[in-house]
Amino acid sequence: MSNLEDYLKERVRLHDLMAKESVDEVIQWYDDCATLYDQNFNSAGFQFHLTTVEATLEFVKDKDAAILDLGAGTGTIGDLLKKEGYSNMDALDASQGMLDIASKKNLYKNTFRSLIGTSESIENLAEGSYDAMVSAGVFAHGAVYYESIPLLLKYLKKGGYLIFSVSLLSMQKSPRLTREQFTKLTRDWEKAGVCRVVSEKPTFHINKEPAFVFTIQNCTDGK
Ligand SMILES: C[S@@+](CC[C@H](N)C(=O)[O-])C[C@H]1O[C@@H](n2cnc3c(N)ncnc32)[C@H](O)[C@@H]1O
Repeated sequence: MSNLEDYLKERVRLHDLMAKESVDEVIQWYDDCATLYDQNFNSAGFQFHLTTVEATLEFVKDKDAAILDLGAGTGTIGDLLKKEGYSNMDALDASQGMLDIASKKNLYKNTFRSLIGTSESIENLAEGSYDAMVSAGVFAHGAVYYESIPLLLKYLKKGGYLIFSVSLLSMQKSPRLTREQFTKLTRDWEKAGVCRVVSEKPTFHINKEPAFVFTIQNCTDGK
């Protein structure tokens, strides 16, 4: 069996864990399959990362901008952004196995192992310190949900951007990730002066599975 076949088989298991919305088991899957993930990413048919990088190029013009790659995994986004000239990036992920692979690529200044949920703070991150957070393939059922957005915004500078992808499948699988829930929450946050949605780009997650890349601008001081 080829690596890609192994990986696609493992993805069926991932989807079962995601359907259970079992975040710990999903992170364990990434730990177990980190090597397979990295070896097969380019041939698996993923697209979401390219649109996420396009949005970053559109909104983050300064190549010295402080960027946090949120759910950085093995460094797919860090690698693409480095090729575009960005030089000041940190990585955060809950999977040590994925981060270990990313660390060997010398893409990031700092790597943080942390689980994004709804706790009040994220260990080791300084509030109001990033110009942008970029998150590809991480907002998903069994992973990160919209309700973490206010927490994440705390670590952005005022005017900074949170750029993230969500697949239509995840929007359909969890009531916490529906399009309606996104609209409701972001309307409330906009009314409260917390942030504003500045862009929505259609893309594909894997092959022809639709997805979206949203860009949200932080309107608070971040502290
Ligand atoms: C599909 S991979 C994407 C990795 C990378 N961004 C890319 O584009 O290749 C999802 C990553 O998000 C991480 N992740 C999922 N849920 C998380 C959470 N709640 N907190 C932190 N990391 C999480 C996983 O460990 C995994 O590395």
